[in-house]
Amino acid sequence: MSTESFIITSARTEDLNPTTRTAIIQLCIAAHQQEDFQHLFSYVPSGGLHFLAYRDDLLMGHALVTTRWLQPEGHPILKTAYVDAVATLPASQGYGYGSALLRRLASEIGDEYVIACLETERTAFYSRLGWEVWRGPLAGRDEHGLIPTPDQTGVMILRLEQTPALDLDRGLTIECQPGRIW
Ligand SMILES: CC(C)(COP(=O)(O)OP(=O)(O)OC[C@H]1O[C@@H](n2cnc3c(N)ncnc32)[C@H](O)[C@@H]1OP(=O)(O)O)[C@@H](O)C(=O)NCCC(=O)NCCS
Repeated sequence: MSTESFIITSARTEDLNPTTRTAIIQLCIAAHQQEDFQHLFSYVPSGGLHFLAYRDDLLMGHALVTTRWLQPEGHPILKTAYVDAVATLPASQGYGYGSALLRRLASEIGDEYVIACLETERTAFYSRLGWEVWRGPLAGRDEHGLIPTPDQTGVMILRLEQTPALDLDRGLTIECQPGRIW
């Protein structure tokens, strides 16, 4: 299958129509085998930036950016593009949709964000696209202080134009969200 004829668009969560929302949910459930994606739009009611790969009128791939706040040790808190819900339709995986989506995402977020971050079990896939595994200690931040996450693996960052010089062996923290840290 050729990917020559596919297009990638981006849209804010609040601008997605119900049909597109349903297609995104179905795509994420099919790719991740996780029914919890039914609730994607209650977790992200607005403000997300969605990247959508279409072949003809069919949604083949998706990635979502929301704003979070990383703090690498020795640096101020950085406005972070946090990437979630990366998914390609199972029958169409391995044809370049995911890579194209992630490249487009990286090229569009540099003005608004200082750095990008995600958490994955597929580190090799993202490494090929320029993402780097954070090697130093990880923790969440809440109003009481730091919550170390020593068992967390697969946290990766992507350096953008505004990213300061970073030492990946030092600490990295992120604000805690309801129900998750990374
Ligand atoms: C991970 C995922 C998003 C990748 O999407 P994809 O569309 O299959 O991605 P690509 O086709 O660009 O790349 C997949 C592989 O195919 C290879 N590939 C890409 N285009 C290719 C082509 N034309 N010919 C041969 N191989 C190709 C890539 O090198 C890549 O190899 P890798 O996985 O060893 O890095 C997709 O597999 C998926 O939805 N998986 C299930 C959910 C998941 O794991 N999501 C990510 C968790 S954060």
